[in-house]
Amino acid sequence: MNMFDASVYITRRACLRKLVNNGIAVFIGNSESPFNYPANAYHFRQDSTFLYYFGIDLPNFAAVVDFDSGIDTVYGNDFSINDVIWMGPQPTVAEISAGAGIFSSHKFSQLEHDINEASAKGRKIHFLPPYRGDTKMVLGSLINKNPCGIRQLSSVELIKAAVEMRSVKEDIEVAEIEKAIDIAYNMHTTAMQMCRPGISEQEIFGKIEGIALSEGAGVSFPTILSINGQTLHNHSHKNILTEGKLMVVDAGAETMMHYASDITRTTPVGGKFSTMQRDIYDIVLRANVEAIAAIKPGLSNRDVHFLACHIIAGGLKDLGLMKGDTGEAVEAGAHALFMPHGIGHMLGLDVHDMEGLGEDIVGYGDKAKRSNKFGASFLRSAMPYKPGHVFTVEPGCYFIPELIYKWRAESKFTEFINYDAISSYMQVGGIRIEDNVLITGSGSRKLGKAIPKGVDEVESMCSI
Ligand code: GLY
Ligand code: MN
Repeated sequence: MNMFDASVYITRRACLRKLVNNGIAVFIGNSESPFNYPANAYHFRQDSTFLYYFGIDLPNFAAVVDFDSGIDTVYGNDFSINDVIWMGPQPTVAEISAGAGIFSSHKFSQLEHDINEASAKGRKIHFLPPYRGDTKMVLGSLINKNPCGIRQLSSVELIKAAVEMRSVKEDIEVAEIEKAIDIAYNMHTTAMQMCRPGISEQEIFGKIEGIALSEGAGVSFPTILSINGQTLHNHSHKNILTEGKLMVVDAGAETMMHYASDITRTTPVGGKFSTMQRDIYDIVLRANVEAIAAIKPGLSNRDVHFLACHIIAGGLKDLGLMKGDTGEAVEAGAHALFMPHGIGHMLGLDVHDMEGLGEDIVGYGDKAKRSNKFGASFLRSAMPYKPGHVFTVEPGCYFIPELIYKWRAESKFTEFINYDAISSYMQVGGIRIEDNVLITGSGSRKLGKAIPKGVDEVESMCSI
C-alpha cells in the first residue's frame, strides 16, 4: 500500500479539528464492489476523503475523528489464517493504523457501540454524504436512519471543512498530479502516433488504458476516445478511423497514490489538419492558451469561462459562423451552441475533485450562484481562484447536429448565429483541448510534461 509519511495525515487531521467545533466525525471507507458474484469484485477504489485523512488504501475500514477528546480511531478486522492462505501475509489493523499515525484501533463491530455511546450522550455525529449503496447501508444501520435519505443528513460543517482543506493542494499533492500528467503524456502521444486511417477506436482505447495501468493505478475516469467528438462524453469505441475525421481523446491516469490527471487532445486522422479543421482548432487552442495565461488569484473560474467563450465566439465570428456584437452574443448565451460545457473543474484525488461531496458546495459555496442559462449552467465551478487550487482548462468547439437543428428550428439567436454557414463545418465534429493548471501566488503554472497541442507539434507527433 502506498502512503505518505504518517505526519501528513496527522497534520491534516489536526487541521480538521480546528475547523469542526465538536462531536465525532465518522468516515466509512469503501468496500469491495462485486460485479457478478461477491468474490469477483471490480478494481478496488478507496474513497478519496478517506485516503486524504487516513491514507489507508484497503477495503472495509472506517475511522472516527473525535473533536472533543482529540483521539482518532481506526476500525477494521484483522485477516484470519484462511484469508492469508488466499491473499498471502497481511499486516494487522494496528500496523496499518500506525502508518496513518493512529494508535487506537478496534474491530469493525466496535464502531456501532462507539457511535451509540456518543449518540446517547447527545454528541453530534458528523459524516460526509455517501455516494455508494453499500456505504449508505452501513451508515443507515449505524445511525438507525433510512439509507435512501441519508445523504441529506450529512454534516454541512464537515463537508465545508473537508472541501476547504482538499481544495488547496500541498506540494506533495501537486507532485503527484504532475506524475499523473506524465502518464497522460504517454497515453496521449501514443494515441497521436496510432491515429491513422483503418485502425479502430477500440485498439487505441485499449492501448492507452493499458498505459494508465502499467504506469500507475489505472485511468482516473473511463477514457473518452472518439472520431465523433461532438458527443462530449463519447464512450463508444466502435468506429474505424477514416481520413478527414478528428479524434478527440479525453483521458487521464491515477498515480499509485490516486491523484488524477485529466487531459484532452484532438488529432487529425492521418496526421494532417485540413484547412477547415485547422481554422476551428486554432480558435480552441487560442481559448486554451489565453485562458491559462489569464488565470490568477482574484479571478474566478467563471471569469475565465467567459473569457474562453468570448474567444470562441470571436473566432467563429471571424469565420462567419457567428455575427453581431461578440460581447452581447456571449452575454445572451448564443456561443453555447458551440461550447455548451464549462471551462473546467477542480482536480486532485478525484478527477472532478470532491464532486461526491456535492458539486454546488465545492464549486459555488455560499457566495456564488449557478447560472440557469444553457451552457453556463454546466459550469462545475464559479470559485475565485486561490493559490494551491488545481483546475482543468478545457475549452471546446462542437458541431452537434441535434442541437443545431433544434436551435435553428426554434430560430434561436438568429441575430448572433449564421445557421447557413454552419452546414459546411459539420464535418469538423468536435474539438477540445484540456490542460491542468496550478494557481500560484501571482498567476498559474501549467502542470506536468508539455503534451503536444500546437498544430505543428501534433502533426509531427503523428508522424513518429
Ligand atoms: N474528463 C471528463 C470531464 O472532465 O468531464
Ligand atoms: Mn475535465
